[in-house]
Amino acid sequence: MNLQDSSRRNAIARSLLSGVAAVSLLASSAMAADVAENWAKNCASCHGKDGRGQTKAGKMAGTKDMTDAAYQAGLKDEKMFASVKDGLKDKGKDVMKPFAAKLTDDEIKALVAHVRTLKK
Ligand code: HEC
Repeated sequence: MNLQDSSRRNAIARSLLSGVAAVSLLASSAMAADVAENWAKNCASCHGKDGRGQTKAGKMAGTKDMTDAAYQAGLKDEKMFASVKDGLKDKGKDVMKPFAAKLTDDEIKALVAHVRTLKK
């Protein structure tokens, strides 16, 4: 193998690698779009796009401010996950319906992670 061959081979390897990087970037942005879309479709009506819960439905349901650090500190990921999956009751009344039938566990996990990003 002469020098020219090996540098051409390196160039091919490099372009293959950058192709892989581009594909995985695309895949991760597709996942990010999914969680944003799920939040917008299923959660923002009450919690608001920004998580402050200042929507009409949110005020009626009694949503708290998710951007509040104290709110976030008071909740464990597992508890959030369970509340979204199985629903949340307050004094026997449904305040948030279960999403188990609508969202997969992975989608709910991603939404819990999304809620964490709302903290100011
Ligand atoms: C019908 C209005 C409504 C919708 C829709 C809604 N929630 Fe809630 N959610 C509430 C209320 C009310 C509470 C209790 C007060 C609070 O923590 O804001 C709550 C609480 C929570 C909590 C805290 C749970 C706990 O154990 O205290 C999380 C996390 C959460 N919601 C996430 C979501 C996600 C994710 C979605 C979308 C899949 C969603 N909510 C959709 C009304 C709603």
